[in-house]
Amino acid sequence: MATTALQGLEVLYTRQQIAERVAEMGAEITRDLKGEKLVMVGVLKGAAPFLSDLARAVQVDATFDFVAVSSYGKGHRTSGAVKLIKDLDETVEGKNVLIVEDILDTGLTLSYLRKLMLNQKPKTLRIAALLDKPSRRIEKIDADYVGFSIPNLFVIGYGMDYAERYRNLPDICLMTPDHPE
Ligand code: PRP
Ligand code: MN
Ligand code: MG
Repeated sequence: MATTALQGLEVLYTRQQIAERVAEMGAEITRDLKGEKLVMVGVLKGAAPFLSDLARAVQVDATFDFVAVSSYGKGHRTSGAVKLIKDLDETVEGKNVLIVEDILDTGLTLSYLRKLMLNQKPKTLRIAALLDKPSRRIEKIDADYVGFSIPNLFVIGYGMDYAERYRNLPDICLMTPDHPE
């Protein structure tokens, strides 16, 4: 497997592979929303790079909004408690909404956000997740658009963090046993 400039990391998906898949997802979303307006809702912080790239691959009249959530006890999120840290700036009532996530894991975050937004009666609500870990699901939820379906690996880069680090890696990476600390 390819290595990176940083010690203890190996590449799972290269920036080229990500770009190709994001372009395909953008084309699919463009087909599905032809002639419609769209609100792209990014889930901070992990979804920021994906939203940035996906938005430029989607040829529709789009606006951005952002939400932030926190789950109690990082790594011990099975409590199921998700808290809203930053709400939408504007209601999505009557709008076409695309929630943009870097990764769909237990599904707790997206189940919570889907419920929150459905309460506002959007015209349509869709989910785009670059990565999906179906084996980890606690809440029953699927994304409408999935980049890559992966086994239960701890992934970092392209928005995804390890203790807030590595979000800026251009590739999606795994930590190897020689990872320092
Ligand atoms: C991560 C990831 C998703 C969520 C997926 O975010 O970016 O938002 O967890 O997990 P789930 O399906 O089990 O809910 P995190 O809460 O780590 O915040 P971050 O995006 O700021 O890193
Ligand atoms: Mn996140
Ligand atoms: Mg995180």
